[in-house]
Amino acid sequence: MGVYSLIDVIEWITESKYSSKEVKLFNDAKQLYELQLAKMEFLNFSNNLNEFIKRTAYFEEILGNKCWHYYISSVKGKGQIGHTNQYMTHWFYPYKGKFHGQMIKALINFSNARGNDIVLDPYLGSGTTLIESSLLGLPGWGVEINPALAIVSQIKLDALGIDYPEFSKTLTPALTNGAFKYFKNLKVSKNSIKPTVEEHLNAKELLNLLWDSYFPHSILHDLPFEWRNILMLIYLHALSDYTYLKGTKKEKTLQEFYHRNLQDYLKTLKGAYSVINELGIKLGNYEVLIGSTLGLPYKNNSVKTIITSPPYSIALDYIKNDEHLLRYFGIDISALRDQMIGLKGKGKEKIYLYEQDLKRSVEEMLRVIKPGGWAVIVLGDISINGTRTNFKDKILSWGREFGCSEAFVLERAILGGFARLRFEYLIFLQK
Ligand SMILES: C[S@@+](CC[C@H](N)C(=O)[O-])C[C@H]1O[C@@H](n2cnc3c(N)ncnc32)[C@H](O)[C@@H]1O
Repeated sequence: MGVYSLIDVIEWITESKYSSKEVKLFNDAKQLYELQLAKMEFLNFSNNLNEFIKRTAYFEEILGNKCWHYYISSVKGKGQIGHTNQYMTHWFYPYKGKFHGQMIKALINFSNARGNDIVLDPYLGSGTTLIESSLLGLPGWGVEINPALAIVSQIKLDALGIDYPEFSKTLTPALTNGAFKYFKNLKVSKNSIKPTVEEHLNAKELLNLLWDSYFPHSILHDLPFEWRNILMLIYLHALSDYTYLKGTKKEKTLQEFYHRNLQDYLKTLKGAYSVINELGIKLGNYEVLIGSTLGLPYKNNSVKTIITSPPYSIALDYIKNDEHLLRYFGIDISALRDQMIGLKGKGKEKIYLYEQDLKRSVEEMLRVIKPGGWAVIVLGDISINGTRTNFKDKILSWGREFGCSEAFVLERAILGGFARLRFEYLIFLQK
């Protein structure tokens, strides 16, 4: 009879530098890809443990010291799973198809971005990559075609840096009730805002334009820009809850959702303020642009790291999901549809156009990344009409065509959830 000796996972991850008596992973980091990412981030920082304690995504404790992710992920958000997602301001605004912040942090660590190295997400969505780069003190650039999501990302990022004690002192019931009425009555006329592909307006400029030219003057205008934006996001979150939960057991009035969310946002903002200050985190700068991945407004060889996730072919209709938000800001929906990857055309042509756009965006990513830098593209393996798509292999071959020197793939099993999506691929391309 054979005698088995079990592998000490920590010894495998740390290549025998440490054992499980000395360091501990978060107890919910159990999937194979998580252990692989833990190893990948560890190997980059193994000669600087102090730095690693501040940066690691998957290690809870090292030689008796709690790692910073332990405190960061303890700033709880709605829908949070362990130390994985929805902590800090990640949970603000319920956007479907968000990255898990913990995984993004590990990928940034793997890419070895440090100091002034720029992290880019050219399909920014609700801003997960830039929240993580900012919490790591790194500069981040984001590009998103949907102006409403660019705004959401900007507000979530700004919220990390607000002076919570001052903010909460100002929030009288009269002000928060007044803000609710103001946002409820706001009407930006249809098609006022176009997705500006060439101009590359940034989200901050767009927000200023809205406040100055489209929103009527009010007492909210006397508040700091970031504060009134947070109140607006709380309203928009309530609007989304109201839209999706209408007719279900969880149904509430818009005003009830607003007040409930207000309390929950304040808890998160308070926690974020104290953890960021107690740890002495210097938030990295960020810039969110409204634009398209098909023509990135950056010079060749300008960013160190790209962590991104394009729409998964035609799996989700990103316009339908957020229609209430697009209408709220008077965004030209048909102009947006024409620019969005995965939504152009019909039937077979739709898949063909998706493929063309995806290829072009891989080319753009490899153009702007520095030699030696990594692009990590996260893509779901979906089936269309019963046939599995295989964009993973296509991306690998386009990567080679556009000059990448190294490439590999990790698989992430999707447990539960969306039945058409069984795996996500993390496709690593090095220039
Ligand atoms: C899978 S989501 C990204 C989610 C993001 N990782 C997050 O954590 O929130 C893909 C995003 O790509 C955006 N998008 C679609 N076509 C685009 C284009 N041509 N240029 C830039 N962004 C685009 C969509 O609006 C959507 O927000």
